[in-house]
Amino acid sequence: MRQGVVDGCMLPNGEGSALRIVSVVGARPQFVKLAAIAAEVQGQADIDHIIVHTGQHYEHQMSEVFFDDLRIPLPDRNLGIGSGGHGAQTGAMLCRLEQTLLELAPDWTVVFGDTNSTLAATVAAVKLDLAVAHVEAGLRSFNRKMPEEHNRVLTDHAADLLLAPTNTAMRHLANEGIGDRARLVGDVMVDVCLHVLKKLRASPSPLASKFAATGRYVVATIHRPHNTDRPDRLRAVLQCLNSIDRRVLLIVHPRLRDRLREFGIALQTYKFELSEPLGYVDMIATLAMSDGVVTDSGGLQKEASIVGIPCTTLRGETEWPETVATGWNVLADDLSTIAELAVRSAPKEDSSHPYGDGHAAARILEELRFGR
Ligand code: UD1
Repeated sequence: MRQGVVDGCMLPNGEGSALRIVSVVGARPQFVKLAAIAAEVQGQADIDHIIVHTGQHYEHQMSEVFFDDLRIPLPDRNLGIGSGGHGAQTGAMLCRLEQTLLELAPDWTVVFGDTNSTLAATVAAVKLDLAVAHVEAGLRSFNRKMPEEHNRVLTDHAADLLLAPTNTAMRHLANEGIGDRARLVGDVMVDVCLHVLKKLRASPSPLASKFAATGRYVVATIHRPHNTDRPDRLRAVLQCLNSIDRRVLLIVHPRLRDRLREFGIALQTYKFELSEPLGYVDMIATLAMSDGVVTDSGGLQKEASIVGIPCTTLRGETEWPETVATGWNVLADDLSTIAELAVRSAPKEDSSHPYGDGHAAARILEELRFGR
């Protein structure tokens, strides 16, 4: 039994006891963010770090591989919620998380990013009057059709401590009247990406080297409902990717796989080389050896600029406007320019580092200790 738990009831964590942090994760990008925090708390005797996995992502390549690759301790609890409609999935998580947080009695519930797991954990915690810290607070696309936009706005307004990655995010929070709870800490994904790049220099990824051995290529990934969930849009996206005058390595997310099956679209009729979702280390290595990436992922937009390849984003807006301002990223929701953009050369190096210096997790821990 963990300290502070008696017969499933919550006891306050006593003065002088370890700071108990419960990190709640569930979807792929959250495991990367968690890796930064987990590495930072390692060996710190005054911190009791507990990991709760909602089970939103459950396939090996969507979950376990990240824990292995990034040496994240295995989750203390896996709630096994799985897939479902937004309401059903978020509701099921909320119900199980309430029970779990009640038992664990954290000093801080730490939530990450903008998925349904983020929102469920936030609502569960605040309703129990438990303090919530939001890692990656203040991001906005201002596109209210995206489920993530609702998740992040609702989470920021409910949470107690808003850990913002950028000055832009700080401004958004101030504009919404919640700037007093915000702290600029930098981006935890930069911490992890820089660490992995360093490891790759000593020990390259055999999988990425294999892709690169047969010639130059562009990486493509799509998983946003905007691009995958309507057959006409999905066909148009695939057609544009197919018209790129280079090898295209299409990494197939389960949402894309499911929609292709549902709409009866066969990828064999396109020229793509196909891959299942990659673990984090292979993904960064594959990206770094490519000529560019075409994507609708948020994380890849930043990772492209860190590894130094151009990114083309299949969306009309981004939560990471700095990638566009620095020239590494171009938004191309109108698909007509994709073929050209995908093979453009990289912009000139710049030294602005809008996402921080790779020490965001250390600042986050300071804030959690200080704000206890
Ligand atoms: C979720 C996040 C999104 C994030 C993305 C990263 C929300 C609202 N969206 O989107 O912000 O960018 O994760 O990948 O939380 N599936 C599997 N196996 C799995 C996981 C999912 O087959 O391990 C399939 C299921 O059919 C499921 C579908 O993928 O219905 C979508 O999964 P879901 O977690 O609902 O949303 P994502 O599109 O992955």
